[in-house]
Amino acid sequence: MLKRIAVLTSGGDSPGMNAAIRAVVRVALHEGVETWGVSYGYSGLVGDWMVRLESRSVGDILQRGGTILGTARCDEFRTAEGRAHALDNLKRRNIDGLVVIGGDGSLTGARLLAAEGFPVVGLPGTIDNDLWGTDYTIGFDTTVNTVVDAINKLRDTASAHRRVIVVEVMGRQSGWIALTAGLAGGAEEILVPEVPADLGKTIAKLKRSCEAGKRYNIVVVAEGVSNTAELARRIEDETGMETRLSILGHIQRGGAPSVFDRILASSLAEKAVMALLAGGSNAMFGYQRGTVVPVNLDDVIRNRKELDAERFRLAHLLA
Ligand code: F6P
Repeated sequence: MLKRIAVLTSGGDSPGMNAAIRAVVRVALHEGVETWGVSYGYSGLVGDWMVRLESRSVGDILQRGGTILGTARCDEFRTAEGRAHALDNLKRRNIDGLVVIGGDGSLTGARLLAAEGFPVVGLPGTIDNDLWGTDYTIGFDTTVNTVVDAINKLRDTASAHRRVIVVEVMGRQSGWIALTAGLAGGAEEILVPEVPADLGKTIAKLKRSCEAGKRYNIVVVAEGVSNTAELARRIEDETGMETRLSILGHIQRGGAPSVFDRILASSLAEKAVMALLAGGSNAMFGYQRGTVVPVNLDDVIRNRKELDAERFRLAHLLA
């Protein structure tokens, strides 16, 4: 039976990470297990930056975005030497299990540690929703709600001026945010990295809709698709409609987590801690068709989550 575990958040922060930390600590305490918080992701493991977390240490954080532990992307942990330092620090502190909350880079680190014999479980924490093995990642729901709120506001000004507004959202390799917020926000066009864009066709369609008397158009573009400033200029030149670009940026990562993200984070964290305490390792806890399930970390890392083709079809049908 494990006596002392640690928890860290790593990679880009996502709303709901604090809810996950809170649940990890309180479930562990309920089971009579001590929890230590690691600061700034794997950098804190390598540098031995850890503090003991009590029930009160995680009070008043459920509703907050960001992560009280801090987060980072750590190159040193990718090296065998960096991981050896991390393992030494964990062992010296008699920590015998670790919970990692983060996206694919962070869970790749978790898998490496597990392969070296240290018990690790992971929670999917990223706004991108691009992890295989879970229908939703912690933070995605809050982010798409933030983006839809922005789209609603942009519609007001777009219609007042009869403009095209290009909205750039996060997602270097993943179009989940663009697609989901674009569908929910009623965007006329949605461009995602997974589906090669025929910009000529997109612009011709916008032009036709302007000529047919449509007052304004919203184009949602994932950041990984193209240079959005150039795209906006091209749309303006070729459609003759005044066009503005709105880059939502890191606003998408902040803010109070939605109810969905709080419940998701709490439910996944409980199962992850219980599995770790029962001797489990090398698993991420995901959410599939309404149920919390363990997913082997090798599979999470090896497989690529496809964009929802049905959602893509519907978004374009309704646009
Ligand atoms: O992975 C989460 C994410 O927010 C991506 O959507 C985005 O491309 C990236 O992180 C931005 O990273 P940074 O905060 O380092 O600029």
